[in-house]
Amino acid sequence: MEQKTVAYQIEPLAQNIQDVRSRHEANRVSWNQGAQRYTEELEDTIEFLRAGNSSLHPVERRNLGDLRAWCRTAIHLQCASGRDTLSLWNEGVSRVIGVDISDVHIANARRITEVLQAPAIWYRCDVLDTPHELDGIASLVYTGRGALCWLHDLNRWADVIFRLLTSGGVVHILDDHPLTWLFDPKQATFIYSGFDYFAHSESSQGWSPNYIGDIGIPVPQQARKFERLWPIAEVFQTLQRAGLTIEYLGEHPDAYWDCFPHLKPELIGRIPMTFSLLARKP
Ligand SMILES: C[S@@+](CC[C@H](N)C(=O)[O-])C[C@H]1O[C@@H](n2cnc3c(N)ncnc32)[C@H](O)[C@@H]1O
Repeated sequence: MEQKTVAYQIEPLAQNIQDVRSRHEANRVSWNQGAQRYTEELEDTIEFLRAGNSSLHPVERRNLGDLRAWCRTAIHLQCASGRDTLSLWNEGVSRVIGVDISDVHIANARRITEVLQAPAIWYRCDVLDTPHELDGIASLVYTGRGALCWLHDLNRWADVIFRLLTSGGVVHILDDHPLTWLFDPKQATFIYSGFDYFAHSESSQGWSPNYIGDIGIPVPQQARKFERLWPIAEVFQTLQRAGLTIEYLGEHPDAYWDCFPHLKPELIGRIPMTFSLLARKP
């Protein structure tokens, strides 16, 4: 039976690094449960990648241009099971490195790499603990769709990005537009969710049926996961404070998942669903 319920509660913002760490650790446990959906699709992912395909979004392809021409090493933060990371390889990046907190995701990524004999290295760790041996080697730090909301300390995240990049290297983000949090996903029109745009954090049990859905564990027994809404300006300013130069910020009507499944067709494309950002290390 499909589990339609995502039971969430509003949480205070993380106050200190201990709060941040405990939320990230809770997310590790929760993603180990959620990642089973990716495990089920592993054979399809292997075939998809073996055929030379790429899951890069058109917005990413447009912003990044011909990766073959300029990107030697890409580090993918929050790489999940590596489908997008290895898509970067299929797009012409010589060496790809993925970092993810979930044991299950990284085990999946290693399995795919073994089968495809891909030039990929994987690190299972909190993105905030990305090892220093990777400092200064990335022409591209890539963060994929659905990444930022899992982080509870953007300053430390931006510092990690800065240290990973080569001089002249870029970070690219394509993620949910924070405006989408302000509307109730169960409605056919845009009804205010009641969330505070500037300070919203929540915990939840259960996964959206339009993403991971039923994982075979009753919702009240699922691990609790913690998310945070990051306003666009905060993302922009945090990267700038870390020393990066913002070269592009875009707001896009393109959704990459069905987060408003009941929306009237005439309303689709009327609000930004995603944003993208490109910033360079001087
Ligand atoms: C929505 S998924 C990313 C999906 C990916 N873009 C894709 O298309 O498959 C979010 C990922 O962030 C990872 N994650 C969450 N918190 C993290 C943290 N603190 N450090 C590293 N990875 C984290 C999760 O394990 C999960 O793989």
